[in-house]
Order: sequence, then C-alpha cells, then structure tokens
Amino acid sequence: MNQDQLKQAVARAAIEHVVDGAVVGVGSGSTVGFFIRELGLVRHRVRGAVSSSERSSALLREQGIEVLDLDAVGTMPVYVDGADEIDGQLRMIKGGGGALTREKIVAAAAERFVCIVDASKVVPVMGRFPLPIEVIPMACGLVTRWCAQLGGEARLRAGFTTDNGNPILDVHGLRIADPVGLETEINQWPGVVTVGLFARRGADVALVADPAGLRTLTR
Ligand code: A5P
Repeated sequence: MNQDQLKQAVARAAIEHVVDGAVVGVGSGSTVGFFIRELGLVRHRVRGAVSSSERSSALLREQGIEVLDLDAVGTMPVYVDGADEIDGQLRMIKGGGGALTREKIVAAAAERFVCIVDASKVVPVMGRFPLPIEVIPMACGLVTRWCAQLGGEARLRAGFTTDNGNPILDVHGLRIADPVGLETEINQWPGVVTVGLFARRGADVALVADPAGLRTLTR
C-alpha cells in the first residue's frame, strides 16, 4: 500500500465517527481531502460542515456539502483532521498546510477530535517535523529570537501567507519533551497568533493506517 492508499483507508474509516444529522467539523490537508470525498458519498447524513480552511471549504462545496459559519453552529459533536506528528498521548504538531489557527478554533468548538493519520506520523517524541507558528508580520524577528533561546531555528515559510493573511515561521531543531508546557509558553509570546502544537487539547481518538491494517489509539 502506498501513502495515498493509507490516507484513503483511514479517511474511509473516519466516516464511522460522523454523527448522523449533525454538523461535522472538517480540518485541512491531503488526508482530509480524502475524507471530504468520502463524506461526499454520505452527504445526506450530515447537516453541513464547519471548515478550517478556504481549500477545505472549496472541496466541501464541490461535494455538495454546505459550509456553515462556526458562529451559526456553536458546537459540533465531531471534528476530523490530520496531523503532521502525533505522540502516544495524542498530542500533535499541525500546520504543515498552514491552516493551524482555524484548525485550533474549530477543534476547540468540537466535543470530540478524531485524528486521521498514516503510521509515518506517529512518533515517540515530537519535534522532527518543524513546528509551525503563525505570527503577526511585525513580530517575525522577535519570535525568531525567542525560538533561538529555546534551541530552535525559526525559518520564514517562503512565499506563503495563511488564510488570515499572516506569515508562518517553521521552527526546526526542537525536541519537544513537554508539549503542554511549550504550547503554553509560546501562546503567551506577543505577536504569536497560533502555535501548531495541539497538546493542551489533543485528539480524543486517532485512527492510524499502516500496511498491516487500521489501529485505533485513545488517550
Ligand atoms: C494543515 O494545516 C495541517 O494541520 C494538516 O492537518 C497536516 O499538515 C496534515 O496534512 P496531510 O494530511 O496533508 O499530511
């Protein structure tokens, strides 16, 4: 099985977690792209979706699924999203696709976070994948220096701005021994919009695809 086939398998499995008649929260990225196509096949089962990126909104509409405003919906039972790295306690690095801020917002409004990944994303300690931070433009230099004090090298993601119009710094060289502590610290730096650590609020369940089959991890 190649990686796309694994993503497809885990995306299909996530459909079982979608609650009939409810609004579903939808993340971003290539694995979620497969999930949206699967959701399109059962679109009569859902009332609509709250989306975490312009790209996912476009894909949802292509599938005939109504995209609803978070404020009109309030809360939803389930949010489905991928991850760049996930550890055994279901804490994640996200934001490889740049949608981390809206992902964190929609995830926070959901009762249950279902993470869908292929097995290559599961790690004992996070940090090999560069940690994305969305920042207000004038704070780039300041945040870069603070990252250096933590032992990380922040690199500006070239030619990229988020759906919110901000740049992203990708922080290389971190070994994240305390994800909750690091998320808490970076969250309070002036100029940081969102750090791509999802540790204070991790996933509730992770569906993991590897060539041997599908595993379900819970906290
Ligand atoms: C998007 O901003 C990310 O948080 C994605 O969830 C993450 O990058 C995983 O994407 P893939 O499914 O494309 O690996």
